Amino acid sequence: MERELTLEFVRVTEAAALASARWMGRGDKIAADDAAVRAMRAVFDTISMDGTVVIGEGELDEAPMLYIGEKVGNGSLPRLDVAVDPLEGTNLVAKGGNGAIAVLAVAEAGCLLHAPDMYMNKIAVGPWAKGKIDLDASVSDNLKAVAASLKKSVHDLTVVILDRERHEKIINEARDCGARIKLISDGDVSPAVAAAVAGSGVDIMMGIGGAPEGVLAAAALKCLGGEMQGRLVPSNEEEYNRSLKMGIGSVDKLLTMNDLVGDGDVIFSATGITDGSLLKGVVFNGTGACTHTLVMRAKTGTIRFVEATHIFAKKPLIEKINVGDD
Ligand code: FBP
Repeated sequence: MERELTLEFVRVTEAAALASARWMGRGDKIAADDAAVRAMRAVFDTISMDGTVVIGEGELDEAPMLYIGEKVGNGSLPRLDVAVDPLEGTNLVAKGGNGAIAVLAVAEAGCLLHAPDMYMNKIAVGPWAKGKIDLDASVSDNLKAVAASLKKSVHDLTVVILDRERHEKIINEARDCGARIKLISDGDVSPAVAAAVAGSGVDIMMGIGGAPEGVLAAAALKCLGGEMQGRLVPSNEEEYNRSLKMGIGSVDKLLTMNDLVGDGDVIFSATGITDGSLLKGVVFNGTGACTHTLVMRAKTGTIRFVEATHIFAKKPLIEKINVGDD
């Protein structure tokens, strides 16, 4: 992958964030998602690459754009796997809540796990705790290991967990250890990435969320030198059979970084839609808007936070996307 592609992918997540941010708090998560998908799709087509969506908006019959298997880019080399979530946290945007992002990961073809749309049990930490966590260990053992790697007390740790009934046990265990817990209503990609960004205020993300979101977060953690472990959690027989076909050996295999993102190069880009622990959200002004993006490349280990000002009148594509024009 040429490094020039990095900035191209920033444009992609910026466009999705700008389009979706117009829908903040308007109570319509479908419109917010639709705006993000259309904007992301439009900008992808301007990029020189032969991309295939491996994680996207669903199967062809469920999604008109950015569906699994769809080709994106202008068709010229390189051949790349593309994982997208144009709007990660649809409810967050609909309600004006914190932490919605537009996100993508792009890797050399064959590198990204083609995670089906089902749940995954996950644990994510920064580089300091790499090699010290174990999805199969107790909450208490994992928290002690992360605290020790950060040279702080478990009482000073911040653990992010999705606020779901299924997490009652791990929440209670984390509370029993005395850790501080941030229960979030949606959007577990952003805190998983934040766990590997010093100063973000997040030390570890754990719990069951989307499998596709797990792959996106793992791509970011690869760039940051952090670690994620995961395990698919099929909810029914159909999902179980689907996971069998994924070629990971057994459905309950412990998925390591290598299983999730492989060992080729990866580029990750995420733009804030609403304010979060990782990124600021879109701010509109009289002439356009400002965006805040995290973009990284695994091969070179470059981590960039890009603050951009967009003057809509000077950007026909962005202007078109922003007024919701087809
Ligand atoms: P959206 O698909 O609405 O953007 O939701 C994203 C999300 O909150 C993920 O971040 C998380 O992994 C998953 O949904 C959790 O699923 P559920 O809401 O079913 O617990």
